[in-house]
Amino acid sequence: MKVLLVGGGGREHALAWKIAQSSMCQKLYCAPGNPGTAQVGENLPVRAEDVDAVVAAARDRGVELVVVGPEDPLAAGLADAVRAAGMLCFGPSTEGARLEADKAFAKELMRSASIPTAEARIFTDLEAARQYVLSRDQGVVVKAAGLAKGKGVFVCTEPHLAVRPLEQIMSERIFGDAGSTVVIEEMLTGQEASILALCDGRNIYPLEASQDHKPIGDGDTGPNTGGMGAYSPTPIVDDSVMTRVEREVLVPIVDAMRRSFGRYEGCLYAGLMLTHAGPKVLEFNCRFGDPEAQPLMMRLKSDLLEAMVATCRHRLDEVRLEWDPRPAVCVVMASGGYPGSYEKGFEITGIEEAEALGDVKVFHAGTAAADGKLLTNGGRVLGVTALGDTIAAARERAYRAVEKIHWQGAYYRKDIAAKAVEA
Ligand code: AMP
Ligand code: GLY
Repeated sequence: MKVLLVGGGGREHALAWKIAQSSMCQKLYCAPGNPGTAQVGENLPVRAEDVDAVVAAARDRGVELVVVGPEDPLAAGLADAVRAAGMLCFGPSTEGARLEADKAFAKELMRSASIPTAEARIFTDLEAARQYVLSRDQGVVVKAAGLAKGKGVFVCTEPHLAVRPLEQIMSERIFGDAGSTVVIEEMLTGQEASILALCDGRNIYPLEASQDHKPIGDGDTGPNTGGMGAYSPTPIVDDSVMTRVEREVLVPIVDAMRRSFGRYEGCLYAGLMLTHAGPKVLEFNCRFGDPEAQPLMMRLKSDLLEAMVATCRHRLDEVRLEWDPRPAVCVVMASGGYPGSYEKGFEITGIEEAEALGDVKVFHAGTAAADGKLLTNGGRVLGVTALGDTIAAARERAYRAVEKIHWQGAYYRKDIAAKAVEA
């Protein structure tokens, strides 16, 4: 079949790389893709957010399945438009995408389904929000309710530290309308894990667990980013945690969605804090994680396209996924300055040398090709991903690969998966 993959980041390169390996894949288009996806498919000059243009591009080329990588086009109704045009779509409806695009809605749905999550209050008025945080005596977490590219969350170890983020979000509108509503939560402590699952609206198929590293700095310091590295599997998610997450989180949320607006179809991502009182939901995303998809795709042995088609045809009960038992570690290399402002256009060298180490795949994110050269073109630039017999070996190999790659101002965390190695 002909497939159109929407998006152009590291997650999309990982998904494209895996979809292109399927014997079912006759042709893969990417809209807009990046130089990495161009190695395995054909990039189209179509913006991911341009719903009409994506649907037209797919229809004109006889595409049967559209796979949506990022959240913005899903929130804008791409999956509904693709289905209305008679094609299969891997990705939830606008309503389903609200689980990520509207944190206040997600919180209320979780409450109604008794899903364990941080206690929270929702505010649309800055003064009321300010008074609330100042009345608290413990750490709080301030979240812009709308989409903010993973940067809209401020963890404040003391209540007064929440005042400035509230002003920035609600008054200065640093995230635009995404900040017209804020969710203020109790601060949870524990280890974090990402559990992603394929969902066909009724059946749920959890993927192997992974762990992201959201803050920019080593030791989880500094502002949050889209994710600076990930690894899978993670020793903190054993069978009993997985069973609990399925029973207490995934099943009830999919049921709650079906009751309120219909089937949730696609990938459902639960970001969890494993607290002393059990797993609690930090957030839901309506898509694969980035960078979690990179180690997951490196470990997936089964045919991803077949599983996606089964999901769209509501036949997830027929799917069985096989995984490489070896762990994979992905280290994100970013532009110096990210998640703040940064320069683009620096030449990248060393990717071939990095991949020549073996069991290494360098996924492109913010890159651009020009005059036979590869240039930096975004905040997160590459996801350097390696397999190893142990997490320590995968980590060591990923960092050896990172050291082969150069551009001016390249930045990466030095401690991806370090906690898992110490554990
Ligand atoms: P989110 O985008 O909602 O997952 O938040 C981004 C990051 O902020 C998470 O990965 C956590 O590290 C942190 N975070 C979010 N909510 C909480 C919470 N209630 N308690 C502690 N940390 C949190
Ligand atoms: N890595 C976090 C996310 O994809 O939202």
